Amino acid sequence: MERGLELHHIGVRFGGLTALDDVSLQVPPNQVVGVIGPNGAGKTTLFNVICGFVAPQTGALTLDGRPLRPRPHQLTRLGIARTLQGTGLFAGLTVLENVMTGAAHTAHAGFVSALLGLPASDRDERRLRRQALDILDDLGIADHAEAAPTTLPFAVRQRVALARALAARPRLLLLDEPAGGLGGDDIAGLAELVRQLPRRDTDPCAVLLVEHHMDLVMAVCDDIVVLDFGRVIATGAPDTIRDDPAVTDAYLGAAVDSDVA
Ligand SMILES: Nc1ncnc2c1ncn2[C@@H]1O[C@H](COP(=O)(O)OP(=O)(O)OP(=O)(O)O)[C@@H](O)[C@H]1O
Ligand SMILES: [Mg+2]
Repeated sequence: MERGLELHHIGVRFGGLTALDDVSLQVPPNQVVGVIGPNGAGKTTLFNVICGFVAPQTGALTLDGRPLRPRPHQLTRLGIARTLQGTGLFAGLTVLENVMTGAAHTAHAGFVSALLGLPASDRDERRLRRQALDILDDLGIADHAEAAPTTLPFAVRQRVALARALAARPRLLLLDEPAGGLGGDDIAGLAELVRQLPRRDTDPCAVLLVEHHMDLVMAVCDDIVVLDFGRVIATGAPDTIRDDPAVTDAYLGAAVDSDVA
């Protein structure tokens, strides 16, 4: 029985400051789990622990019950992909090429030569191209395949970044504040997209969503973990979380202030 990603009693300190304190959570296969909490609650730190950017002082991670010591450059091999705050796309590559880089670890050397303008006859390269186009199509942005990312609206670039992460065919996708900088309609579109990820026929994946935006989290998550001052103060389905007074106190009060900023 696959258990997905689990964090067991994770603790992170920065000098005298406790950023995460005894945090345990699970992202089961094909579920969308959200991590929310007010500014400074520890969300990004948690994300960085899972990506391997921050090593916890206490606790452990497991993937399907086996010890996991994440390293940023080894994530895709473990079946984990991520997007970062901001899109991080390569300005010198087209949208399609950007998405192809997400799958480059599955290809042989030919792909790199192809990007450098050498003959693009390699079978790998054609396979990657077709796969990348399929993903762009799934995300409704295939029309932009040959565009330079810098010429596109932010919402489209966000989708390109998501497409690139999906090109690695992860079974767990980590999203850090994907709604940042998006307007209402774009957030609704993103919500629909994220909700579908565990349910698709090809390459379904679990999602861990670190997000300030309450509406998105409520709309897409099967399970929500609420952090406050580095501690888990609530875990449960969106309806439970919405009605939890501790969450309202800790999160919603602070969110009203910070959403204005
Ligand atoms: N590299 C670091 N060095 C020192 N303190 C840090 C570092 N990274 C984070 N912190 C502190 O750890 C706490 C948790 O920060 P973190 O960025 O994880 O919160 P967050 O929930 O992502 O907040 P936000 O909603 O503002 O993005 C904060 O008090 C922050 O100032
Ligand atoms: Mg953060």
